[in-house]
Amino acid sequence: MAAKEIGIGLIGMGTVGTGVVKILRERGDTIAARTGLRPVLRQVAVRNLGQMREVALPPEMMTADPQAVIARPDVDIVVELMGGYEPARTLVLKAIESGKHVVTANKAIIALYGQEIFAAAREKGVLVYFEASVGGAIPILAALRESFVANEIRAIFGIVNGTTNYILTRMTEDGMDFGEALAEAVRGGYAEADPTLDLEGIDAAHKLAILASCAFGIPVDMEDVYVEGISEVCPQDISYAREFGYVIKLLAIAKEAGGSIELRVHPTMLSRHHPLASVRETYNAIYVEGDAIGKAMFLGRGAGRMPTASAVVSDIVEAILRSREADFQAERSLYWNRKTIQPMSEVACKFYLRFPIVDQPGVIGKIATVLGSHGISITSVRASLVEMTTNAGHVEMLTHRAGEAAVQQALQEINALPVMRDKSMYLRIEE
Ligand code: NDP
Ligand code: HSE
Repeated sequence: MAAKEIGIGLIGMGTVGTGVVKILRERGDTIAARTGLRPVLRQVAVRNLGQMREVALPPEMMTADPQAVIARPDVDIVVELMGGYEPARTLVLKAIESGKHVVTANKAIIALYGQEIFAAAREKGVLVYFEASVGGAIPILAALRESFVANEIRAIFGIVNGTTNYILTRMTEDGMDFGEALAEAVRGGYAEADPTLDLEGIDAAHKLAILASCAFGIPVDMEDVYVEGISEVCPQDISYAREFGYVIKLLAIAKEAGGSIELRVHPTMLSRHHPLASVRETYNAIYVEGDAIGKAMFLGRGAGRMPTASAVVSDIVEAILRSREADFQAERSLYWNRKTIQPMSEVACKFYLRFPIVDQPGVIGKIATVLGSHGISITSVRASLVEMTTNAGHVEMLTHRAGEAAVQQALQEINALPVMRDKSMYLRIEE
């Protein structure tokens, strides 16, 4: 018997959309053989109809009007791969209102408007799938929502942005210039259309919000996620970190802390013995700690055409299968927990501190006195002279666990000391 056709409408055929079209063409028969249902591409919306494309489709399949894709009666699943906040959010809501299931890789709209989107979908009785929005090919959201459902998740540490991991890898391993490494990531199709979203940690923060909702069941207001990007990480810090036995990674951290949840994205000095320290290039990895599973790590391609398209097509197949079940409205809830998000000022961790100083007697004592007055205890100190004639030097310190608020206050006071040549620099440490 011929497999029943399921109509797919695609909005966006750029890096990921092109991969989805390729997979649907090449794997249509296999999917039909495995599921008895065949996803068939009905129409594709793009911005610029005149653009040359790697995959050629008949002109009548292409449109510049995404609403037309949604409105087609033969489209059962709308796949949103245009990216950005608007009009993507409005189009997804429109698709839901029109009774279509939705698959998206758009972490920005899921992180910011997830509650609105899932409420609309529940009311309309349609499905919204978004596995590709975090970790590309890595099935981390399914793992958190399904495989680990029996666990209390304690912590998640993720390298979830391929672009910044690529830049930090190139800077660390080849001493490559920041701009050159970014240009390579853009050429590879890994960076966002606006790469500041990658560099400033915003893309990672969107993914962290989604991870936290899946792992801890909390709705996340993006304003409550602490975000710091990698644009201030300099080669000097990378080499100092190496000397202390650390690597610098942009980590997305969600941690249970005394009944509330810490949510933060920032460049982190990570012990070189930590499993995440060896995650290089555009690879992503998510390290999960749960009460029953103990520790688990997921590694894979977090960005790029085919890895991301693989996750999108898997969501399409999942949506097709699930929608055939009689009780498919009984979905796994995302927001079932009432835990609150811990303010960043209450977070505590170890710190690496670097003070650009004028080298003179007593300078270390002056800095240590301020730190001590805020209850910050030092585990290691190193001083070096960088310029003999001006006596310019650096003092670097590692601290015991210290409160974020205390450290920020102490650094402000230290920055005002006459021995300082420039403002102090800090990195948070995870072992
Ligand atoms: P691209 O910029 O490569 O592609 C965007 C596509 O959307 C293009 O085909 C573009 O048309 C089309 N488009 C944009 N605006 C409109 C509009 N107003 N009307 C119709 N079509 C429009 O993006 P990516 O493929 O890289 O990313 C897509 C989504 O997947 C994003 O949400 C991204 O964050 C996410 N994602 C991307 C990954 C990656 O590695 N690239 C990995 C994981 C998720 P045209 O071609 O004519 O310009
Ligand atoms: N710009 C993103 C990254 C794409 O570099 O990880 C994958 O979400």
